[in-house]
Amino acid sequence: MKIAVMGFGVVGSGVANLIKKNAAVIKENTGAELEVKRILDIRDFENSEFAPLMTKNFADIENDDEIEVVVETMGGLNPAFEFVSRCLKRKKHVVSSNKELVVQKGFELLSLARENNVNFLFEASVGGGIPIIRPISRCLAGNRIDSIAGILNGTTNFIMTKMIMERTDFSSALALAQELGYAEKDPTADVEGIDTCRKICILASLVFGNQIYPEKVHTEGITKVTLEDAEFAGSFGYVIKLIAQARKLDNGKLYIIVSPALVSKGSMLAGVNDVFNACLVQGDMTGDILLYGKGAGSSATASAVVGDIIDCADNMEKRKVFGWKEEKDGMVEDYLMVPVSLFVRVKNENSAREEIEKLFPGAKILENAEELAFITAEETQKVLFEKLSASGLTVLSSIRVTTY
Ligand code: HSE
Repeated sequence: MKIAVMGFGVVGSGVANLIKKNAAVIKENTGAELEVKRILDIRDFENSEFAPLMTKNFADIENDDEIEVVVETMGGLNPAFEFVSRCLKRKKHVVSSNKELVVQKGFELLSLARENNVNFLFEASVGGGIPIIRPISRCLAGNRIDSIAGILNGTTNFIMTKMIMERTDFSSALALAQELGYAEKDPTADVEGIDTCRKICILASLVFGNQIYPEKVHTEGITKVTLEDAEFAGSFGYVIKLIAQARKLDNGKLYIIVSPALVSKGSMLAGVNDVFNACLVQGDMTGDILLYGKGAGSSATASAVVGDIIDCADNMEKRKVFGWKEEKDGMVEDYLMVPVSLFVRVKNENSAREEIEKLFPGAKILENAEELAFITAEETQKVLFEKLSASGLTVLSSIRVTTY
């Protein structure tokens, strides 16, 4: 089966390399004979072993009827959206690792795929090499899933691990993550939680059945988390992770949020370190399932892409039943209305301790010479933040505590 790859970056080159290296294994495991026929990129790769396959002209892929599956690893919306749409209209199956494309245009592209009786698959868009999309949409299809939560960004988890375990400063840890090919082209998307938000939106769309756009999801990154936060959290028995969560509330709406969060050291998520990701799925039949593995990097992500290509090879003549409907108004609850318990760090001054005890009765409090840290009981985020801003406390940080 002839394949084209659009975008010869970290993931696209990983796909070409994987198919070259493991073609015999793939054939033995699945019967599929995969061959990369064309690679589209605007850059020159004269010294690459794949140089003879390179083209800068999309028409070389679009008009080549021998190419049955197109891999989109360009990233970004433009021209990815146009190229993918045109491939689907030409009845080519498309496999994408592009989170931005899936999260903004997923419903449209899934509809286009359905109209043209081809597949649009995107396992590699969430969790790098970890199978997540297929297990959720197939293996767990007999469950009602009410909650998913996880660590979905390798770069930030790598940075937090380096900061906490090796006391590496933020920018050196980020530079290393970039060098290792984990970070996005613009690492702001990683450190500000934007990449994680795209991924939880994709998973939530799949689990809850309607497209969920990132604009509807409250998102905070890791740039404000300090070593002091990590130390106090450690003394309370927690680690700090960038956590994405999506769960159905009793009122039927969805609570979806991305933020740094305190995770109990006893939780399965607490031991997820370095570039590893993990997604905790709670099925009504299975109970908790943790999907764990490398969440970024060339070969791990290429493995997910190739899994989708093989799925296309198995479903050449018929489209898989897969995807979600368009967004539904009012699906996502205002996060401020949802109760949480909060870790707060304040200046140890004047009558700070008395004020904490008055505002948050029963809160556990720790202190050192300069600072106090405490964990509140559960209240709505609106009430918690209002109490803090109306108090005389000098708040240094506030981080949600998860129960996962
Ligand atoms: N920048 C992303 C991460 C790549 O660090 O997880 C994989 O989506």
